[in-house]
Amino acid sequence: MNILHVCANPKNIEESVSKQLAARFFGKLMELNPDVELVNVDLYQDKPPYYSNDLYRRMWNPVFDPTYEPSKAEEAAANYAIKQAEDFKKADVLVLTMPMWNFSAPAVMKAWMDQVLAPGMVFDLTEDGPKPLHNITTLVLLVASGGIYKEDDERDALSRQVKAAFGFIGIGDIRIAWADGQNSMLFSDGAVRRDMAFEAAEELAEDLAEEAAEG
Ligand SMILES: Cc1cc2nc3c(=O)[nH]c(=O)nc-3n(C[C@H](O)[C@H](O)[C@H](O)COP(=O)(O)O)c2cc1C
Repeated sequence: MNILHVCANPKNIEESVSKQLAARFFGKLMELNPDVELVNVDLYQDKPPYYSNDLYRRMWNPVFDPTYEPSKAEEAAANYAIKQAEDFKKADVLVLTMPMWNFSAPAVMKAWMDQVLAPGMVFDLTEDGPKPLHNITTLVLLVASGGIYKEDDERDALSRQVKAAFGFIGIGDIRIAWADGQNSMLFSDGAVRRDMAFEAAEELAEDLAEEAAEG
């Protein structure tokens, strides 16, 4: 199993519930499936540059004009995206770890998505719709939030965005472990909720290991 793990959290693990969720998930998976090949991308160590005009031109001009030749500056601006897309294309499982910030994903995660989920990078735009250029079938989303959000809660722009953006490029199997209610000023049962999410993360790992063993 080839896993790409992309984490968007500036905190260290002792302070971060979402990073602890990831530790529980990967701890269980490694225990059950030693054949995991894991590539970790920490978006606070390896920050995606925000879109520049050069990057925009390199990513989108060839889509609308296949004869378009990017300049050297445009190629240089796209180097981060090209490297990330290479790792994406080697994976069959994608794990995203992040906190909820302002009801959505942290800006570095969005910046990464803007660059990697681009035509010519991990999918092609065809007359029949987007055609995946990757082999990822399953996405595991590990999230922590201060508030509590029921399924399809309209305030939750995070899981909606992940489902929409990755669904668009052919990743429909999205599994979630979510430590909600982590704001102790608002909820008194944050520790119980966190432990339930840890268990859910371990169960997701068990499911993946079982599916891998079954082939
Ligand atoms: C900038 C910022 C914005 C936040 N916005 C939200 C929010 O919109 N909804 C929410 O439920 N929690 C929000 N929180 C709380 C975090 O999601 C919560 O503290 C979570 O446990 C953070 O995950 P972590 O422990 O992995 O860093 C926000 C926290 C920060 C720092």
